[in-house]
Amino acid sequence: MEIGVTVNGTVYRRDVEPRLLLVHFLRDELRLTGTHWGCDTSNCGACVVWLDDVPVKSCTVLAVMADGHRVRTVEGLANNGDLDPVQAGFRECHGLQCGFCTPGMMMTSRWLLDHNPDPSEEDIREAISGQLCRCTGYENIVRSVRWAAEHETVEAQP
Ligand code: FES
Ligand code: FES
Repeated sequence: MEIGVTVNGTVYRRDVEPRLLLVHFLRDELRLTGTHWGCDTSNCGACVVWLDDVPVKSCTVLAVMADGHRVRTVEGLANNGDLDPVQAGFRECHGLQCGFCTPGMMMTSRWLLDHNPDPSEEDIREAISGQLCRCTGYENIVRSVRWAAEHETVEAQP
């Protein structure tokens, strides 16, 4: 079936099977491999993207359900080559080890900061509670998001 999905501001039209998952649409059809596929049980959250401004696990969404909607992936975080503060925070605070969970963690963190610019450690932990870091790097992930919160305004200024 023919679908049209706006991903990171670009409209992509593809003929897809109705059973195709959004995570596979992004990775295999569009070659946006920053979104990871880490389980078969909808537990890991490596696949988190935004669907119309809301974080979703893209392995729980059919590509056809995204027809006519907007998707934002980790490839759409940076702005004209400048890292998003969340990305900078993960870099500054060593918020990743193997990096497998990182794209999903960053997409959730970006959403959190957009809705709560000054989150507590508890807020951050709750926000990412649906996602797993197999390297167990949670301490540094939380620090990274706090770093982003503290540098967001400064970074956003020209
Ligand atoms: S791949 Fe989606 S939750 Fe694991
Ligand atoms: S950094 Fe390895 S899974 Fe999180």
